[in-house]
Amino acid sequence: MKIVRTISGLKKEIRAAQSAGKSIGFVPTMGFLHEGHLTLARQARSQNDVVVMSIFVNPLQFGPNEDFERYPRDEERDTRLAGEVGVDLLFLPSVEEMYPEEPAVTLTVHKRTNALCGLSREGHFDGVATVVMKLFHLTEADRAYFGKKDAQQLAVIHGLVDALNVPIEIIGVDTVREPDGLAKSSRNVYLLPEEREKAPAIYKALGLIKQSVEAGETDVASLKQKARYVLEEEAGAVIDYLEILSYPALEPIEKVNETIIAAAAVQYKQARLIDNVILPVKGSAPCTAQ
Ligand code: PAF
Repeated sequence: MKIVRTISGLKKEIRAAQSAGKSIGFVPTMGFLHEGHLTLARQARSQNDVVVMSIFVNPLQFGPNEDFERYPRDEERDTRLAGEVGVDLLFLPSVEEMYPEEPAVTLTVHKRTNALCGLSREGHFDGVATVVMKLFHLTEADRAYFGKKDAQQLAVIHGLVDALNVPIEIIGVDTVREPDGLAKSSRNVYLLPEEREKAPAIYKALGLIKQSVEAGETDVASLKQKARYVLEEEAGAVIDYLEILSYPALEPIEKVNETIIAAAAVQYKQARLIDNVILPVKGSAPCTAQ
């Protein structure tokens, strides 16, 4: 595995891969890799000649009171894991390399942000869209891999690629979970032991919505009420949101008759966790953002 830290170094490798006629799969990450990221990389490995992974904690997507400084970082371990799953090219730029000065142009996302994490993380998806667009330009990848755990991010990236005609295929990859159901996340390390014990209730609550929809229940208010009860009783956290929305548009709905997302965010002492299930409803339009 080659490691490059500069944009010029990355471009040189990309040009070499392209002139050898190789397809490029790209896995953008912020590092502190876990099984979720490794699953993205494995899928990229199986579908492309060259796998590029970036590790960059992007300051543009963190608010002033968020955890940019505190975001977990472990370059040595990440490098080893990326090599083990078959990444060919690891891009590890510094903030100065990516943003040598305050960017003259950034992107603003107008749709799919007025819900879920977009409501409490102002500007977050603008920062994500800006860095992802930059990384798409730099890697010139054929395919890029994103986890469905960040379903709103995935919906935003689909919107970005559609709106700006970016020639890349976006692949959404299923959430990887701990045996007890908790979605893998770099932020799980912040959980206190008693919080870690209770956190699987998030997926349990979402699972209840899934089972009820599969059993034919369509009333969104009553689905939410049941799931909220489980979260309140069992998750031991402050509920930031529990929503059922259309997906990928992320519009409010009253009845389930199209593809939906059931999503929750909860705040523990040191960690805010998100999770979701996306439920395709039979007969509804196919959902590209899955
Ligand atoms: O999902 C992430 O880790 C980040 O939002 C991404 C896509 C790497 C952009 O910084």
